[in-house]
Amino acid sequence: MKKNFTILAIDTSCDETSAAVTDDDHVLSNIVSSQVEFHQKYGGVVPNIARRMHQQLIKPVINEALKRAGKTIDKIDALAITVGPGLAPALEVGISTTKNLAAEYQLPIIAVNHMEAHLLSSFAKNSKGNGAFSKINSQFPILGLLVSGGHTQLVLMKNFGKYQLLGETVDDAAGEAFDKVAKMLNLGYPGGPIISELAKNGKPKYELPIPMVGSKDLNFSFSGLKTACLYKLQKIPKKQKNRQFICDFSSSFEKAVAQALIIKLKKTIEIYQPKQIVLGGGVISNITIRREARKVAGKFGLRVFVPYTQKLFTDNAAMVGVCAWYQAQRGDFIKNITTLDRQPNLSFTP
Ligand code: KG4
Ligand code: ZN
Repeated sequence: MKKNFTILAIDTSCDETSAAVTDDDHVLSNIVSSQVEFHQKYGGVVPNIARRMHQQLIKPVINEALKRAGKTIDKIDALAITVGPGLAPALEVGISTTKNLAAEYQLPIIAVNHMEAHLLSSFAKNSKGNGAFSKINSQFPILGLLVSGGHTQLVLMKNFGKYQLLGETVDDAAGEAFDKVAKMLNLGYPGGPIISELAKNGKPKYELPIPMVGSKDLNFSFSGLKTACLYKLQKIPKKQKNRQFICDFSSSFEKAVAQALIIKLKKTIEIYQPKQIVLGGGVISNITIRREARKVAGKFGLRVFVPYTQKLFTDNAAMVGVCAWYQAQRGDFIKNITTLDRQPNLSFTP
């Protein structure tokens, strides 16, 4: 394959409209237009609003990504598009836009799994070639812990394109739990960043159940913790719910989530003995979770990698472009454009 393979990547899987230009694994531009203010008053993402906003934003976002990268579309070698998992009406907008661009400019398409893109986000490098993985070679197997608003997964990466899903949440994702508990505390949406900030000024005083601590498998569950939070909050008189209480409760909740993730991370390391660990997804913005992951990995002499910039933790198209570059190297292009379709429940297949 030619060097400097330039990809225009698009992601419309949830509530961020994003386009990026990548050159091999280098990120040249990464535009993310958040719709959060339009969903905020509903306390979560409304699929039809997401679709309408993606339709309005997609063209300007693509144009901005090209402009920031200093590229015109005739310099693009391939298009990359997230086909799932995600919200069907939202995915649809990116896919139809990609199909139109492919037909108009005679470009090949690479269909990307959004979670594989989160998994490979630590492999992204900046335009100068610096990234989390720039100083070392990939040593397999690599264990990925992916924690986002829709997913909580442990994935064993035996090589690029060779993945085994080891565990995942049986109910709510960790990010969803952050968002729901924030709603119970009337903190706004999305809750993860708000709870994280408040937790910095609090102490984990409140006893909350650590989910799935006793289970033998590598799955997660966060709905019990969410319910426990609800019951606890109902029992506390309103006048006691001052700012310090909110900070302490946030800290207690954050600790329980971190523990739940770390217990399973430790178990997985013991069983599968990976060589390296990567973290991905919006929830790894949380410093307590990152610190705890480093602590446990350190006990096994393992290094933990996260993307070189926080912008690559939450949803973005640059990780899609980098993932697509690895796919392009193994010839993984869409052969028949008419078969390209959204896959809202797409997962890792062995
Ligand atoms: O990966 P992402 O952008 O989207 C999905 O693919 O779902 O993750 C979004 C999730 C939201 O639930 C948000 O509350 C959470 O990531 N999040 C955080 C933090 N920043 C974002 N959760 C905990 N701590 C944070 N600092
Ligand atoms: Zn995501």
